[in-house]
Amino acid sequence: MMSMASTLARQNASFEFHYCARNRARAAFLPELEQSPWSDRVHLHLDDDEHSALLDLPAVLAEPQQNGSAKRVFICGPAGFIQFVRESAAEAGWHNDQIHFEQFSAPDSHGTKTENGSTELTDTTPDTTAADFEIVVASSGQVIPVAAGQSAANAMRAAGLDVSVSCEQGICGSCLTPVLDGTPEHNDYFQTDAEKSSNRQFTPCCSRAKSHRLVLDI
Ligand code: FES
Repeated sequence: MMSMASTLARQNASFEFHYCARNRARAAFLPELEQSPWSDRVHLHLDDDEHSALLDLPAVLAEPQQNGSAKRVFICGPAGFIQFVRESAAEAGWHNDQIHFEQFSAPDSHGTKTENGSTELTDTTPDTTAADFEIVVASSGQVIPVAAGQSAANAMRAAGLDVSVSCEQGICGSCLTPVLDGTPEHNDYFQTDAEKSSNRQFTPCCSRAKSHRLVLDI
């Protein structure tokens, strides 16, 4: 988050940095934030400090657009906090593609809004065990079978391909691979809904295929 803020500041871009913590003692990087060249954009929200204003999320999220352009919100913190801000942003009219969050492990369950506004928990843990399919390497024509219970990344590595992986949970995007043909079954948390709908890339560490074959641009 701080790197992103520094980059935005260097680009002279408009942004606000809201930082919530219980108190100053529990707030990491306070000196760095207060001495940064963009310290005037930092808004501290400390629960146990009467001089600190609590985060007014409805006010912060009130305007999803600025001068006709979609704004973006980036969220980092405990899972419950991230979920709360995501839901608040959605209620304030922010589109999914405008909401970005940083998780350090794949969620076991995910909140889905029902029509009456309640939140229904559904299991969205990446499923790498579904039906088998084939991967076709466009550059060589090599066909790689991916067995049920085997991840596409493991099948590709077993076939001698160099697959760049890191989290292997669909979070980091390291393994994102271009798709030329076929329909991926996206199980990652990295791509936006629009990116998943385009089916131009997939994450072989956790995603599979709805079609019998996926032709990859590698
Ligand atoms: S290795 Fe992180 S998304 Fe695939």
